[in-house]
Amino acid sequence: MTDASTLEPLSFSLNGRPVTVDVDPRETLFDTLRERLRQTGTKGACLEGECGSCTVLLDGEPVTSCLVMALQVAGREVVTIEGIAESSQLSALQAAFVRAGAVQCGYCTPGLIVSATALLKKNPRPSEDEVRRGLAGNLCRCTGYNKIVDAVLDASREGEELSETGTAGARA
Ligand code: FES
Ligand code: FES
Repeated sequence: MTDASTLEPLSFSLNGRPVTVDVDPRETLFDTLRERLRQTGTKGACLEGECGSCTVLLDGEPVTSCLVMALQVAGREVVTIEGIAESSQLSALQAAFVRAGAVQCGYCTPGLIVSATALLKKNPRPSEDEVRRGLAGNLCRCTGYNKIVDAVLDASREGEELSETGTAGARA
């Protein structure tokens, strides 16, 4: 148990809202998110930067939160899976994962959604190869990856159709 006198205040933006929390200087962002802020959508499997299940966005870039020290995010913007959904609706990407059957145990899913969200923001119309390379840091032990790739490509096509027709929100 950390002695309260060793804690330091940390302020940053979490899913668009300012937060201040006391942290142990030795703890990771992953621990801060889950243990102190109860953002338990972020999962952890390896805690060594190998599996990608703990991926969050830091200033828009995907990072493995188990390798980021909490104090490194002072004054910066963090987005977790809880911040990806559009208000109470699934994002287009999340809905595409459901449609494609890209979720089995679901443990890898939050990290994959966060990584794929960043990928589609940078490259809204990726090739299959670009999706596979873009998600190479996110491991999944259940799906064999094909349905995950299908879901990302489906979401990218949907985004393209919506931007072409200007009918965002018109699809079921
Ligand atoms: S738990 Fe962070 S990369 Fe695996
Ligand atoms: S769905 Fe189980 S690890 Fe990916």
